[in-house]
Amino acid sequence: LKEQALAQVTEAQDVKALQEVRVAYLGKKGPITEVLRGMGKLSAEERPLIGQMANEVRDEIKSAIETKEVALETAAVEAKLAKESIDVTLPGRPQKTGARHPLTAVVEEVEDAFLGLGFSVAEGPEVETDYYNFEALNLPKDHPARDMQDSFYFTDELLLRTHTSPVQARTMEKFEGRGPVKIICPGKVFRRDDDDATHSHQFMQIEGLFVDKNVRMSDLKGVLEAFAQSFFGPDRSIRLRPSFFPFTEPSVEVDVSCGMCGGEGCRVCKNTGWIEVLGAGMIHPKVLEMSGFDSKEYSGFAFGMGVERLAMLKYDIDDIRHFYTNDVRFLAQFKRV
Ligand code: PHE
Repeated sequence: LKEQALAQVTEAQDVKALQEVRVAYLGKKGPITEVLRGMGKLSAEERPLIGQMANEVRDEIKSAIETKEVALETAAVEAKLAKESIDVTLPGRPQKTGARHPLTAVVEEVEDAFLGLGFSVAEGPEVETDYYNFEALNLPKDHPARDMQDSFYFTDELLLRTHTSPVQARTMEKFEGRGPVKIICPGKVFRRDDDDATHSHQFMQIEGLFVDKNVRMSDLKGVLEAFAQSFFGPDRSIRLRPSFFPFTEPSVEVDVSCGMCGGEGCRVCKNTGWIEVLGAGMIHPKVLEMSGFDSKEYSGFAFGMGVERLAMLKYDIDDIRHFYTNDVRFLAQFKRV
């Protein structure tokens, strides 16, 4: 009986099996209990012998079970530790890092260029009033740019700004007729355009404004040339072509020399040697007056450029929608920009 019990203890693979052995041999219905219970029927000589023997067997089985129990528990802890141990020699999993959005990078680069020329950065609201978006910029009520087709209106008086130029008027008002005013203003603008490779209903502009005594057209040209060379490269030059904006007079379209065409079939400038990058001009006297400046004492220039266009030219991006669909394969290319 003892041998059989000890063999089963040895064989027990887990605590549950061990418990079954304990119940089978030492439990209330087990053989040893039975022997001890039958003691009364034994003779006086047999009783101590059988009793001692039964006790010894019981103790031996009990201690075998206890020893095995400790061994099983230790093994379980060791197995758990082995499973949970960390292999410090494994290479780490690479962490993906983000990157500045290319439009943010371009805005910051343009800001840096103009901060270096003494401009500071201003901001204005994206939801604008009809007054600042149009009226204060000398856009008469029947101007085509005010057509419902081109703007996102909330009410007759409120719309999403269609350009950053309203910040010109807002900023001049704050200066209460006293210059110099020298700011640039980056921001989102909105137009009711159908999206395609070169149009987006939401895009970004950077406005520039300089008002002081004796500001001349040559100042505008000098500032824009310095900017073009800082942004595109020192070998670039600019040219001004006559244009029209209601809020500037004279108005110009500013081209930057291509610098990218390697002979025939330049995709960037279509072999003209020039790329159109921004609109600008001398601030219309009416605009100065409406914003509280005496146009006999003060003059100024303003310009506005499209951020996506600058980014597309600088990084050779062929579709404006890339900026807004946020494909990480596109964005990840600007990590070092
Ligand atoms: N606001 C004009 C546009 O959106 C750009 C511009 C700004 C032109 C300032 C002249 C002066 O096209």
